[in-house]
Order: sequence, then structure tokens, then C-alpha cells
Amino acid sequence: MASLREALLCWFAENARPLPWRESYDPYQVWLSEIMLQQTQMERAVGYFQRFVARFPDMASLAAASEEEVLKLWEGLGYYSRAKNLLACARRVVAAHGGALPHDPKTLQALPGIGPYTAGAVASIAFARDVTAVDANVERVFARLFDLDMPVREARTRAFILETAAALVPRGKAREWNQALMELGALVCLPKRPRCSECPLSGQCEAYRLDLVFERPVPAKA
Ligand code: ADE
Repeated sequence: MASLREALLCWFAENARPLPWRESYDPYQVWLSEIMLQQTQMERAVGYFQRFVARFPDMASLAAASEEEVLKLWEGLGYYSRAKNLLACARRVVAAHGGALPHDPKTLQALPGIGPYTAGAVASIAFARDVTAVDANVERVFARLFDLDMPVREARTRAFILETAAALVPRGKAREWNQALMELGALVCLPKRPRCSECPLSGQCEAYRLDLVFERPVPAKA
């Protein structure tokens, strides 16, 4: 397990994309990026993120905005309930948390638009809490790494993934670790064309060893 962690953290240190919110890990920016990335590809999200932060640089300025203006900036990103929840969340954070996002995942999850994944992502990436953040990329990485032979959304598989993810988080390095797993899923452990020859974990990947990478993750039953 130590070598798995080392291999992936080392890969991330060298291959992390230079994304704007990775410059300072400002919690407001991390939260905004995670909401945008919920249903939007990275390439598309970055431009929107930059325009959004230029207009609303912090939680207080966003909380003071009109819904109309927020929706206007969101135009083209789709899933407009995200933008409405974003504004509702900013207002709640200002009203109930003094303008600063809470650090605790459970408290984060009580805010509009923040589910278990986003709460874990913000708590770990913005606040360096040792918690998991399992999105579809991470599910795919785990399905291959551990050669999971059931669909990732099945209760037993989900439970295994969440438990394993929690056990793997290197203490004090959840920020790097969670992003490294996502980044590996986004750049190397691709759904249709995995780049196993470039993968820092191929030597420890059970599906790779068994030549089953293309059969994992097992598709959900129709
Ligand atoms: N997708 C969603 N959040 C991400 C992050 N923090 N890094 C890479 N990909 C992501």
C-alpha cells in the first residue's frame, strides 16, 4: 500500500494540470470549481471559472449578487439548478458561517448543492481534511486496480470502494491524494482508451495483470 501511495503521489506531483484553483487552494475557489466540474468537462469549466472569479472574487460578493446575474454568468454550462444552489449556498455561508465555508464534511453536506462527493472534495482539497472524495473517475480507477467484478453502483461494490478509499488516504495528504486519483482517472485510466503503458499503478493493477482492463468497470445492468 505504501508503494501504491508513493507511486501515485509522485505521478501527481509531476503531472497535475496547472488549474487556476490549484494555485492557492482558496476554499471559495475550490468549492466553485467542484460545483462547475459536477457536470462539466474540465476544458469547458476553466474559462467559466475564470470569468466567474473575476466578477465574484469571494463568497461575500457572490452572496450579494442577483440570481439573474449569476445565471447569466452560468449561461452555456447547463444544469442551472447548480447556479441557483451556488447562490443559495453563498448566502447561507454568509448568514450562518460568517462567510467562510465550514471544514467539516457533514456540515458542508447540509449546504445547498453539496452532496457527499463535493463535501469530501472541499474538505480534503481546500481544508486538507483526511477524508475521501469518490467520483466516477475514482470508481473506475478502483474497479480496475482491484478488479471489481460487479457494477460500481451496486451497494456491495460501493461499500467496498468507500471503505478501501478511506483506508488508502495517506494521513495529511488527502489534498494531493484525492486529486491524484481523479487526475489519473481523467488523464490515464480513461473509460474507453486507458493508457496503461503510461500508468504509474499498472504494476499494481489487478485488472491489468489479468488483462481485464477493458472489462472494468463492469457496466450497470440495463
Ligand atoms: N474533477 C472534479 N474535481 C476535480 C479535481 N479537483 N481535480 C481533477 N479533476 C476533478
